[in-house]
Amino acid sequence: MTANEIWEKHKQVIPGGVVSLNRIIDPMRVFVRAKGAYLWDSDGKQYIDYHAAFSPYLLGHSDTDVDEAVIRAIREERSLMGAGTTPWEGELAELLVECIPTLDQVQLTNTGSEATFLALRLARAVTERDKVIIMQGGYNGWHNDVAFNLMDSADQLADSREGEELPLSPLTAGMPKSAAQNVHVVQFNDLAAVENVMRRGNIAAVILEPILQNIGIVKPKPGYLNGLRRLCDQYGSLLVFDEVKTGFRHALGGYQSICGVRPDLSSFGKAVANGYPLGVIGGKREYMEYFNHPEPAKRVLIAGTYNAHPVPTVAAIATLRKLKTQEGEIYAHLERLGQMMEDGLKTRLARHGFPATVARQGSAFVVYFMDASPENWLDIARYNDMERDKKYRQRLIDAGVFHFPLPTKQGSISFAHTETDIERTLEITDTVLSTLARN
Ligand SMILES: Cc1ncc(COP(=O)(O)O)c(C=O)c1O
Repeated sequence: MTANEIWEKHKQVIPGGVVSLNRIIDPMRVFVRAKGAYLWDSDGKQYIDYHAAFSPYLLGHSDTDVDEAVIRAIREERSLMGAGTTPWEGELAELLVECIPTLDQVQLTNTGSEATFLALRLARAVTERDKVIIMQGGYNGWHNDVAFNLMDSADQLADSREGEELPLSPLTAGMPKSAAQNVHVVQFNDLAAVENVMRRGNIAAVILEPILQNIGIVKPKPGYLNGLRRLCDQYGSLLVFDEVKTGFRHALGGYQSICGVRPDLSSFGKAVANGYPLGVIGGKREYMEYFNHPEPAKRVLIAGTYNAHPVPTVAAIATLRKLKTQEGEIYAHLERLGQMMEDGLKTRLARHGFPATVARQGSAFVVYFMDASPENWLDIARYNDMERDKKYRQRLIDAGVFHFPLPTKQGSISFAHTETDIERTLEITDTVLSTLARN
């Protein structure tokens, strides 16, 4: 069967024929195997993978050390007990607290969305306030507090003014209208807008990806994250760094260890368990203790049948142990390959005469088909050539390089990629750019 025939068959039993509809791709592919830096589809075609399943695979697909730990745990009959504690949840918590300086304590979830959900619930319990500030172009999960304003069109944002909040644009049907009452959206890198919203009061938290990595790589301007820290302190709101994408990818201590700004709470996911489903919420003890507050009315509910399931838990332990013991080697390799990719892309894009910018942080990179690095989503919506961006990605896929075929989606290099993979990718990119240039 062709990929399209399989997809049609799946549509009978899965709405849209794909589990998680954000995974629909054009052209459709059916993937059957992934190892290291490579994917294989049902036709046996091999791809160099930069999608990394929306980026968890920092060590590469099917990493032997991580998978061996999982296989061992299953052999040792470490089933889910769901009562009391387990040695491995304690071990993982200790490792996390050791790796990330701002975490005094952690709790474990299955996904990043659960972690950001709990971070906001915790912030509300601590501050006894209702409202949250989120970023245009940020993604923090699918729940009602954060599922707003990701990739809105320039037309939708036409009236947006610096220093002002933006109109809400929900990512989903089915949210209660009341959800909108508790959410304010501002442009990333616009401190004045945050302050203007905070002045009106009742802000429990600001939650943001410290680098916007669901619209490529949009970095904070110098002083921006520090400014958020100062405003949160001044107005009594909690600063939540959503490091589901940045955490572990850029440094063992998270992006917070690079930017030097200390959030009150942080969420992690994705790379923490190298592809196994695990989320983390952690932060200051005085806030985390609300999960166990002595006064029942102030206690924040955390419950989950699968929280700290032994399979993702041992996967995370193996991932973090590997990152810790080979920290220098792994992050140097990722930076070297990232630099090689950035330099190679810049040279080739210039040679083919495209107005383009390569944005990168370590192993995460993106090509924007626009002249300058964006400061926020509005810059991208206005200036990125979305049609060319999509075509570029589709042609790379046809030629055996897999980037998610949606404009602005971040590319992720893993520890399993080699210099030869990058060289091959750049050769293929050169050919793709020459075909793009012609039409
Ligand atoms: C920054 C960020 N936060 C939260 C999430 C939600 O994580 P999950 O998909 O594991 O629920 C994502 C997912 O892409 C993300 O990129």
